[in-house]
Amino acid sequence: MSIEFDDDFSERVVTTSQTAEDSGEPSLRPKTMAEYIGQAKAKENLSVFIEAARRRGEPLDHVLLYGPPGLGKTTLAGIIANEMGVNIRVTSGPAIEKAGDLAALLTNLSENDILFIDEIHRLDRSVEEILYPAMEDYALDIIIGKGPSARSIRLDLPKFTLIGATTRAGQMTSPLRDRFGVMLRLELYSPEELQQIVARSAEILQVEAEPAGTYEIARRSRGTPRIANRMLRRVRDFAEVRFNGVITQQAADTALRALEVDELGLDAIDRRMLRSIMTTFGGGPVGLDTLAATIGEEAVTLEDVYEPYLMQIGFLNRTPRGRCVTALAYEHLDIRPNEPQIPEQFRFDGIE
Ligand code: ADE
Repeated sequence: MSIEFDDDFSERVVTTSQTAEDSGEPSLRPKTMAEYIGQAKAKENLSVFIEAARRRGEPLDHVLLYGPPGLGKTTLAGIIANEMGVNIRVTSGPAIEKAGDLAALLTNLSENDILFIDEIHRLDRSVEEILYPAMEDYALDIIIGKGPSARSIRLDLPKFTLIGATTRAGQMTSPLRDRFGVMLRLELYSPEELQQIVARSAEILQVEAEPAGTYEIARRSRGTPRIANRMLRRVRDFAEVRFNGVITQQAADTALRALEVDELGLDAIDRRMLRSIMTTFGGGPVGLDTLAATIGEEAVTLEDVYEPYLMQIGFLNRTPRGRCVTALAYEHLDIRPNEPQIPEQFRFDGIE
């Protein structure tokens, strides 16, 4: 199997976008289904589909993986390729600018190969239309000429599997969504699953980690392996410099405090968002766009990156009239409802 990557991203410690560092240590990515921890439902179904496709000697049906960022969609695509014994070509929606770019990708595939398109909801419309006949009939329709003499010729493509990944399945057009035979939703991981992932990664990185240390990282990584693995590297730095190289609970706590990640994994932006709803909007409801403008983040970032975890831990509700914080969130930030507060813009955002 070969994997070819096309993209890179960057940012803060609890960012869920991929950073150069993540792709720089691909060895942390599990390569087989057996090594992949969690997502039991998706794994179970996929294993059946893979086995069936292999027995028939056919490509796997097109697969759509959706859910919050950082849960292992790219990793899972790599595992599927590995288990199918085929090559995977990795790209992303925004990287494919023109219809011709996609045509070039498709014509370079071999029989049964996998094309992985991350952020597939961001594909340009004209590019998306090339995908319809490609997915349905393994064909490429090319228009030759212009005006009345224009004609279309159909090129055959190798049989392939498209694996699409998206954080927002709802934003995909239905013609595209409907062409995926398999749709799998990835869920946030439990602290116990994340602890197993951190322990496995620590072993690969050859750093000694006590169970209390791996659990401390796990419970503060917002249900997201990408965050857990990034935190592990930072905790390893602290462990090596200040804690004799062992990841203890104290080493993890010291490192994560220094990174302004609190005991539930909330960072400065999470806290600013919650506090803003409490102080500026009386606890909500407040519309997403208004909230985004108030704290200076993009609405899609709030929705994809921050809200899933805040909702999972019961700090935030999405209601038809807007976002509301819960009593639990007030308690965590030690704010009493309706108490006058220092306006958000004059607050210091570190851990108090
Ligand atoms: N690394 C990232 N995601 C993982 C997972 N689900 N299982 C094991 N290691 C991982």
